[in-house]
Amino acid sequence: MTSDKQLPQTAIPKRVHVKTYGCQMNVYDSERMAEALSPLGYTTTDSATDADLVLINTCHIREKASEKLYSDLGRLRDMKAERADGDQVMIAVTGCVAQAEGDEIIRRAPDVDLVIGPQAYHRLPELISRRSKGEKAAFAPQFEPESKFQTLSTSRDVHGVSAFLTVQEGCDKFCAFCVVPYTRGAEYSRPAAQILEEAEGLASKGVRELTLLGQNVNAYRGDDNGTAVELASLIRRLAQTPGLARLRYTTSHPNDMSETLIEAHAEIDALMPYLHLPVQSGSDRILAAMNRKHTADDYLKVVDRLRKARPDLALSGDFIVGFPGETESDFEDTLSLIRTVSYASAFSFKYSRRPGTPAAGSARQVDEEIKTERLARLNALLEDQRQAFNRSKIGEIFPVLFEKPGRHEGQLIGRSPWLQAVWAEAPMRLLGQLANVRITGVGPNSLTGTVETVEGAKL
Ligand code: SAH
Ligand code: SF4
Ligand code: F3S
Repeated sequence: MTSDKQLPQTAIPKRVHVKTYGCQMNVYDSERMAEALSPLGYTTTDSATDADLVLINTCHIREKASEKLYSDLGRLRDMKAERADGDQVMIAVTGCVAQAEGDEIIRRAPDVDLVIGPQAYHRLPELISRRSKGEKAAFAPQFEPESKFQTLSTSRDVHGVSAFLTVQEGCDKFCAFCVVPYTRGAEYSRPAAQILEEAEGLASKGVRELTLLGQNVNAYRGDDNGTAVELASLIRRLAQTPGLARLRYTTSHPNDMSETLIEAHAEIDALMPYLHLPVQSGSDRILAAMNRKHTADDYLKVVDRLRKARPDLALSGDFIVGFPGETESDFEDTLSLIRTVSYASAFSFKYSRRPGTPAAGSARQVDEEIKTERLARLNALLEDQRQAFNRSKIGEIFPVLFEKPGRHEGQLIGRSPWLQAVWAEAPMRLLGQLANVRITGVGPNSLTGTVETVEGAKL
C-alpha cells in the first residue's frame, strides 16, 4: 500500500517542483505555496526529476485544462518508477481540480500523497509533515480563505519588477457555464491593512508594478478599520505606496464597474489605462441563458463611461463560442459587439461542458464542428483588432517599465501601459525603471522603440 509508506523527514535540503495551470490567481497561489514551504527546508527546482516534492496546481475551468492533471500524474508515475529514490517522492495536487475532484484523484491515482483545495493551502506544511510521518493520503477541501490569508505571511519572496497580489477570492455570480463558484467558494475580500502591508513589502523589494487579483476583483469590499471599502479606495491607498509606479486589476465583472471605480481611472495616474472586462457573448438571449445578468447594451454603456473617464483606455475580453443554444445569429451579435468595442487583446474559448454546472445539462449543445468554425472566425477578427491596436502605437512616445534583459546584448524588454511587450536598446541600469520610449516598429507580438528620457531625467 502506498498510503502507509514511511517518508524520511530529515532529507534536507529538499526540493519542490511546482507546475502551475490556470489563471493568474493560481500563479499567485503557487508562489505563496513555495514560500510557505521554505521554512521546511524546501527550495524550488525547475525539474520534477530532481524534486522531493512535486506540486501540481491545477485548473478546472475547461475539460482540457482538467485532463492535463491525469497525464501529468501518468508521467510522474513513470518517473517514480525510474528513479532509485522514486518511492520517496511526494506528490501534492492543489488548485481547482483538487477542490472539484479530490476524492476521485486519490482513488484514481494512488501515488498522490496530498490533495488540497485552493482555500486550504496554508495547511500544506502541516499536511506534508503528517504525511511524512506515515499518515494516509489526505484530501483537504475546506473553504477557509480568512484563515488562509491570516496564516500566510505578508512578507513575500519576490524577484522582479512586476508582481501579483490577490485581494479578493471566490465568486457568487454563478454564470451557467462556470465552475469557479464551486472550486473557489464564496466571495471573500482581504482586509485593506493586510493588502497594504503585503504591497509595501513587495515595493521594498523592488516591485514597481502590482496587479491586484480576484475572480471578481471589482466586487472587492474589504474591511478598512471597521468599514467596508471598495476597490477604488484600495487603489487610491496603494497608489501612495513609495516605489509603486503602476497598478492594474483583473478580472472584473461588468456589473461591478461602479462609478467610483470608473472615476478612479480618470484620477489615478498609477492606474494603467488597460482593463480586462469579459463579456462572453454579444447576444442578449445567450447572455440571459448564461446568467450574466447584463445585456450587450449594458456592457457597451460601461465601456463608454470608462472611455469618457480615460480616453486612452484599451480593453481586453473573454469570449465563449458555442454556448448551448447559440445560433449563427447570436454568434453574429458577438462579432458585432467586438466590432463596436474594438479590443486590444482577447481570450476566446469553445464552450466546454463542465460537470455540475447548469449549462452542462442543456439539451441544446452545439456541434463541435460549428464551435471550431465560429472560434476561427472570432479569432480572425480579434487578431485583426490586436494588430491594428499595436500598429496604432507607431510614432507614439509613452512610458515603458523595463522588466528583463532582451535576447540580444544591450537590449531590455519592458511593458507599455497597455501590457504590450516593448524592446529597446537600453543599459542594464534601467531595469526596474520607467523610460519614455518612442515606438518605431511593430512585430507579431511586440513593439520596438528607442529610449528618449528616463523617469524625468535625460538618458
Ligand atoms: N471571473 C472571470 C473569469 C473566470 S474564468 C469573469 O467573470 O470574467 C476565465 C474565462 O474562462 C471566462 O471569462 C470564460 O470566458 C472562460 N470560461 C469559463 N468557463 C468556461 C467553460 N465552461 N467553457 C469555456 N470557457 C469557459
Ligand atoms: Fe465564473 Fe461568472 Fe464568476 Fe466569472 S463571474 S468566475 S465567469 S461564475
Ligand atoms: Fe482555473 Fe481555478 Fe483559475 S478553475 S481559471 S485555476 S480559478
